[in-house]
Amino acid sequence: MKRTVQKKSWAEPYKMKMVELLNVTSRQQRARAIKDAGYNTFLLRSEDVYIDLLTDSGTNAMSDRQWSAFMVGDEAYAGSASFYRMEAAIQKHYGYKYVIPTHQGRGAENILSKVMIKPGDVIPGNMYFTTTRLHQELAGGKFHDIIIDEAHDPGSEHPFKGNVDLNKLAAIVKKVGAKKIPYVSIATNVNMAGGQPISMKNLKELRAFTKRHGIKIIHDMTRVAENAYFIQQREKGYEKKKIRDIVREICDNTDGATMSAKKDALVNIGGFMATNDWNVYEEARNLVVVYEGLHTYGGLAGRDMEAIAVGIGESLNDEHQHARVGQVEYLGHRMESFGVPIVRPIGGHGIFVDAKAFLPHLTQDQFPAQTLAAEIFVDSGVRTMERGIVSAGRKPDGTNYYPKLELVRFTLPRRVYTQAHMDVVAESAGSVFERRKKIKGMKMVYEPKYLRFFQARFEMIK
Ligand code: F0G
Repeated sequence: MKRTVQKKSWAEPYKMKMVELLNVTSRQQRARAIKDAGYNTFLLRSEDVYIDLLTDSGTNAMSDRQWSAFMVGDEAYAGSASFYRMEAAIQKHYGYKYVIPTHQGRGAENILSKVMIKPGDVIPGNMYFTTTRLHQELAGGKFHDIIIDEAHDPGSEHPFKGNVDLNKLAAIVKKVGAKKIPYVSIATNVNMAGGQPISMKNLKELRAFTKRHGIKIIHDMTRVAENAYFIQQREKGYEKKKIRDIVREICDNTDGATMSAKKDALVNIGGFMATNDWNVYEEARNLVVVYEGLHTYGGLAGRDMEAIAVGIGESLNDEHQHARVGQVEYLGHRMESFGVPIVRPIGGHGIFVDAKAFLPHLTQDQFPAQTLAAEIFVDSGVRTMERGIVSAGRKPDGTNYYPKLELVRFTLPRRVYTQAHMDVVAESAGSVFERRKKIKGMKMVYEPKYLRFFQARFEMIK
């Protein structure tokens, strides 16, 4: 019988030149470490962590070209050549006219919110992100969720769960009036929904709708290239397009952006705000001096801006994104083979385990996702993150948000871990799943006022 080889595997378009050694710890050490950390994985010391899947933010491995670019960083206080190179890369690849550098994404959100939002305004968006919504609220605005219902359903196989429900948008425009809506806040590859993309078709429909009402679109482009990869894979008419062209088309359908370069752009620190509107730019350029630094460095070293300029180019490479999302999919399929319930379809930057389905015997007030993240850490030294009721925080009136999604995020840094690491992670999730019925919940014993998930402390329910 003749056999043919099916060539379906992806492989990384890079090889290793230097490695970082990891600490392998005992179960006893890990149990003590997580207790000392108040059962919050954000409060662990990274030396106690074996495989760190807390976040894909600032945890990427830079390339040899980025490290070389570091050496030509121009550290001038004013007029740094590195700023102009970063600005040119943003203008070329993303197409926005004016660029304000910031130390990271939330720096850009702070300035943009202060410039564009007036007290009493409403900001519709395709699901909230923690820092984005908080800056909108601190500027006196109110976030309004207009993502499609499927995004809140971990089992829905909708290919574009980041899409906007235009009926929800029309209803809020009718209720408060377009004048109270400074912009619609659109994230590409929606983080809190599980790294889920918005389709080009939906974005274009949104563009047409907002144009009619004189409303702007501000793009949280933190993971725009991952979104473009999904459009290339899933949307009719985009199969043959390059990721770089799809990214540009997305940006061209928006008016401005905030970016955490710590994700897509393959660096360890940095961000920016970009706009096509001179007046917004003018005011932002004034404010950045107050909060970040001069408008040609915004809290960044010249070398950071060099690395961003190179990283943006690398992020738009088709093979890079194929391997990136391919690794996430590999981990997801391995977890599913052990029966672990995960958000479907598999997203772009990590696997999101459905803690409500994993621990159905716990109520949301017993923090199932927080509990599960602690259990996984004790089992294997794999650090993950809660994305549920703790992350959702409290409303401006002080009551808790109760998000439908109660998730544990296994986030993959870019170009950092191997397929063998993914096997260890999946096996750990599988073994905790086997003894899930014995797991009890937690209670919160310390709660900070802002973004509580970073520093809250918990105790196990006995
Ligand atoms: N927008 C999105 C969609 C993000 O995921 C983040 C950060 C930010 C804005 C803020 O950017 O951290 O550079 O200030 N997300 C990280 C995470 C923290 O782990 O998901 P930042």
